[in-house]
Amino acid sequence: METYLWITAVWGVYLSLAVFIVGMAWRIYDWATTPKSPVRLGMFPKPATKTGRFFKMLKDTFIAPQSARIEPRMWFFAMMFHVAALAAFVGHLRILGEYPILPGLLESMGISMNDFAGWAGGIAGVLMMVAVMYWIARRTYGPFKNLSVPEDYFLLALLFGVVIMGNHMRFFGHGVHATDYREWFLSLLAFKPVFPAVLTGSNISWSLGTHMLFVDVLFIYFPFSKLVHTIGSLSSNFVRSE
Ligand code: HEM
Repeated sequence: METYLWITAVWGVYLSLAVFIVGMAWRIYDWATTPKSPVRLGMFPKPATKTGRFFKMLKDTFIAPQSARIEPRMWFFAMMFHVAALAAFVGHLRILGEYPILPGLLESMGISMNDFAGWAGGIAGVLMMVAVMYWIARRTYGPFKNLSVPEDYFLLALLFGVVIMGNHMRFFGHGVHATDYREWFLSLLAFKPVFPAVLTGSNISWSLGTHMLFVDVLFIYFPFSKLVHTIGSLSSNFVRSE
């Protein structure tokens, strides 16, 4: 098991982060050097002022009213996924360090930080899982099947793998806490990787390894996939209001 963890949760992380950084740098360079379209790409209604354009960009990016109009069910699941993913991201930051104030605040209410994280992370993980299952069903049955290409299924399978393995750790990792994951992750960042015995000896060591395997592939593929919309949608929504 330790060899598997070394491949996916040490070397895989280094490789995938290197590919991600170089890939995104190439992507941004490519965007920046693409000649501007001589035709204005703005779509009605266009705000008259720069501030108006800025807020329209934020609204179009984070609320996506156009998607809500065209496909409300899809919009609902997409919102659910993104809000839950943001919550999971905030939770993942505990792997880097404990939040200030919050643990003490919860303690004063009689709630332990680990219990709170367990509930919050658990809810976020289940919501993300449901959203990805909806997306898979949407592309497997019904009219969207004909519009789907292998990349769509590949990305959904990757996301599903990441989320299912994360949920396995979250729901079955009894006795393994953020401090244990932190020991491993901070040692990675210090380029002196170690795995605490509680991780290697636990029932979730294989799901941690597989979570990281899917995360590695996702990071490697990200700059070359349609997932770059996470970053590109800000600028394209700005152009839409030109
Ligand atoms: C360097 C990248 C990542 C690391 C080191 C990491 C690590 C972890 C760990 C240790 C857990 C278990 C938390 C616990 O039970 O205390 C977890 C859970 C989870 N991870 Fe990740 N993960 C990473 C990236 C991602 C990404 C990119 C996604 C989603 C696209 C994701 C989705 C989840 C989900 C849904 C859970 C379960 C719910 C939760 O605990 O938030 N992870 N991850």
